[in-house]
Formats: sequence, C-alpha cells, structure tokens
Amino acid sequence: MTNNGKMQSVTLRVLRYNPEVDQKQHFQEFQVEYTADTTILDALHQIKAEQDGSLTFRRSCRHAICGSCAMNVNGKNILVCKTPLRTQLDRKNRVTIRPLPFLPVIKDLVVDRSAFWEEYQRVRPWLIAPPEAPEKEFRMTPEEVEALHNAETCIMCGACYSSCQVVALNKKYIGPHALLKAFMRVMDPRDTEPGERLDEVSGSDGVFRCHTIFNCIDACPKGLNPTEAIETLRKLVQKRQAFVAARQERQKTLLPVESSTAPAAAD
Ligand code: FES
Repeated sequence: MTNNGKMQSVTLRVLRYNPEVDQKQHFQEFQVEYTADTTILDALHQIKAEQDGSLTFRRSCRHAICGSCAMNVNGKNILVCKTPLRTQLDRKNRVTIRPLPFLPVIKDLVVDRSAFWEEYQRVRPWLIAPPEAPEKEFRMTPEEVEALHNAETCIMCGACYSSCQVVALNKKYIGPHALLKAFMRVMDPRDTEPGERLDEVSGSDGVFRCHTIFNCIDACPKGLNPTEAIETLRKLVQKRQAFVAARQERQKTLLPVESSTAPAAAD
C-alpha cells in the first residue's frame, strides 16, 4: 500500500500475444512505480512510454464512460481506467492482467469484439417509435423508469459478455449485454414492437439459454443487473407464449362451428 504520494514498486504480469511472431500467449513481467492515485491504465501507459512501446491495449475516455478499457485483472473483468493499482495487489505484490476471456485476441490486451456487437445489433437496440408522436408526453410508472435506467447506464464495455459461461460455450447466445438492451426496449412505452422483440429473444439462443450464474452481475463495473432483466424477459415470453397457445386452442374448437354455419359458396 502507498501513503499519499509516496512511490512504491509493483510487478505487472501482462499476458502478451503478437500474431506476427508468437505461437501462443505468454506472460511478461514489468516493474512499475506507483502512488495511491495510479490506476492500472496509468501503469500500462507507463510501460508503453518507458519500457515497451509495442504493448497494445484499448482505451479512450479514461473516465469509465466509453467502456473500451475492460480487461481481466487477477481473474476479474474490470475497467482499468477507474481501478487504482493499489487495490489489486496480490500477496506477492503483483497484478496479473489478461485480455477479456472467451474472445479472440487480436494483439496483447486487445480482443475482437465482433460477436459482441453482432449480438447487440441483432436485438435492434434502437427505439421503434410510432409513426406519429402523441399530443401529450408518454407516461411511465416509476418501475418502468427504474428498469430503463438500469439498462441505459450500460456502457457496452463487454465485461459481462466475456465473463458469461454460456458465451464461452455457445457463441450464438445473444448475451447479457444485448438482452439488457432488448429488455430496455420491451419496457419502453414509446416502443411499438414489444411483442416482436419478445419473439426474437425467445429462441434457443435467447433468454432460456441463460443459466443464471450471476457472473454478469459480478463483472458489471456499473453495478447493473442483466440477470434480473433476463428473468423479467423470460416471464414475459412465457406469458406471451401461453396467451398465443391458449388462443390457438380456442380457435381449434371454434373452427368446426364456423365452417358448419358458413354460407354456401356461390356458383
Ligand atoms: S477508457 Fe473509457 S471506460 Fe476506461
């Protein structure tokens, strides 16, 4: 631990991979100076500037807003720009940094997020508004506002997606990030296609694929709850399916009566 501005030294173990020269990933250790205020991202910058300019990682805002700096630190997915280095030291005074798990590595700590974004697009996360705006504002209950707030705060960092064991086994799974957005639109009173959205997440790679392991909740740096959103979607899908099935059954019993009483066709 550091006191105020006092400099300390720590070992950073970084899992590295350069597809042009490496057969597989390997750890490289760096000694880094830090104070109480040094974040893990600061330490990575320090390495890149002073020790190895080839170290590759993503970052942009440095304020826990853009979501690009999510990495796996000591086995947990976190945003390195908001995490002080001193809070992550293990008993050997080291910090181990890996790229996000279950995603293809492009180089060092940079992963290919294509699957993550494809699933996001798949749930059509944008608002499908009515053709004409109503005269007065849309009204919402406090519960709906709370539900939307939960999903809107998501910064799409991928920490939940790449901590999900279902994603690890089944790349076609929609994933907690996209299901959270689908939930947001289903709950949004302005959206005109909640039923279609429920149908879209009801398949074998949708809400029923979630094993409720809660990894996504543990990983979310914003404290959001994708599992609860998925659970709510599941209940709504079940209600919708039960309604459709009951209506089909009803129609089966009505058809013979209608056909026997139907007027004879004209010649
Ligand atoms: S750099 Fe934007 S969230 Fe960390």
